[in-house]
Amino acid sequence: MNEHDSERIAGLLQADGLVATADAAEAEVVVLNTCAIRENADNRLYGNLGHLRPLKVANPRMRIVVAGCLAQKDQGRIQERAPWVDVVVGTHALPELLDLLRRAELEGPQMDVRETTEVFPSALPARRSDPHHAWVSIAVGCDNRCTFCIVPLVRGPQLSRSIEDVVAEVRDLAAAGVVEVSLLGQNVNTFGRDLTVPDSSRTPRFAELLRAVDSVEGIARVRFTSPHPHDFTPDVIEAMAACRSVCEHIHFPLQSGSDRVLGLMRRSYRSKRYLSWLELIRGAIPGIAVTTDIIVGFPGETEEDFRGTLGVVERARFDQAYTFQYSARPGTEAATHPDQLPKEIVQERFERLVELQERISLERNMELVGSTVELLIEGPGRKGGVQGRTRTNKVAHLPTPYPAGEFVRARVESAHPHHLGARALAPAGRVPVPT
Ligand code: 5AD
Ligand code: SF4
Repeated sequence: MNEHDSERIAGLLQADGLVATADAAEAEVVVLNTCAIRENADNRLYGNLGHLRPLKVANPRMRIVVAGCLAQKDQGRIQERAPWVDVVVGTHALPELLDLLRRAELEGPQMDVRETTEVFPSALPARRSDPHHAWVSIAVGCDNRCTFCIVPLVRGPQLSRSIEDVVAEVRDLAAAGVVEVSLLGQNVNTFGRDLTVPDSSRTPRFAELLRAVDSVEGIARVRFTSPHPHDFTPDVIEAMAACRSVCEHIHFPLQSGSDRVLGLMRRSYRSKRYLSWLELIRGAIPGIAVTTDIIVGFPGETEEDFRGTLGVVERARFDQAYTFQYSARPGTEAATHPDQLPKEIVQERFERLVELQERISLERNMELVGSTVELLIEGPGRKGGVQGRTRTNKVAHLPTPYPAGEFVRARVESAHPHHLGARALAPAGRVPVPT
């Protein structure tokens, strides 16, 4: 979501005649688009602002903007701590950015941290970092109250876009050469709950949206993030299986494998139900890759709870897990829990979890050695050659050069925990973009 918003910020500035620079010292405008999900983001913001201060002294024309979730959360405190910040623009106020910059020049420091979204950020121009891929926001905000999570406090309640709006944006993207879209919502299952289908009393459903986006010509890959295991429904599995462009990958956040901790987190599914969803999904969509998010060290988590997480991870056999050490966020319920765990215990559990998941990720990738995959080339690889991505969202490195945006059929030759090695099939196995 932050990348999506950053592309809008860059798009607005570009539409105003600015050009990107890699050198902050010569910039007229510097924007820090912030994240508030864990505490280290806070520390980084104030560290970065400290580094910018001497640059601004040397270049008085520089205007510094703080945008995003920390802007929404810290509001006036940012300019109190760093009075050299010109503009603070919250999550609901992005469309005001250029106005705020102009006013800052005339009147001094500005702040807009309004509480509700009036203009969906998708309506703003975008400067995309990859011409073949686009983030498409289908809903902003979240109506859940997971006790560890700051998102509802800084992004507000869920606000969905109509299916027609989303499809119109995807059509325009396809016409501009985009072949892959990632649909974004904090909880895609509840997409549409705040809307009604035109001329009916029905609410639109995420599965319908998937089918509608799938029918857009020129879009070869559709991804989405994230469903919540609580409101997940079989119609989404059916739509995933039926839609040719919907990729064989699901990000399905587990958070904890302990039912007691899931209760404390106010995550209303339990590990048994989670695992049975995985079985259904894997049964319906052969070869699907499953990734997840896991928090270690939630307040009150015991060694036994943590072993529960290790047990579910063993059974779930995720392709990849994003693992996080619990971080107390101001305003959330869990931050006031009396039993916050010492850093050493959290670190030790975290390392055990990472070690287990690295082994499983490697084993999952080894199962693919010898198989044929479709790669969408993204650009130069870190290891020479090029980097592509499978439909299952795995990064693969190819030794031969291909242009970005090309589809290549390749054979998997080696496996690593976080990527694959592959070779293009002879003759150059380009697959036409499916329409
Ligand atoms: N501490 C640690 N991890 C968190 N996440 C959300 N809030 C916190 C927190 N307070 C993780 C969750 C979520 C992912 C985006 O970030 O796992 O799914
Ligand atoms: Fe946060 Fe829970 Fe909403 Fe996800 S579903 S954004 S974890 S409150």
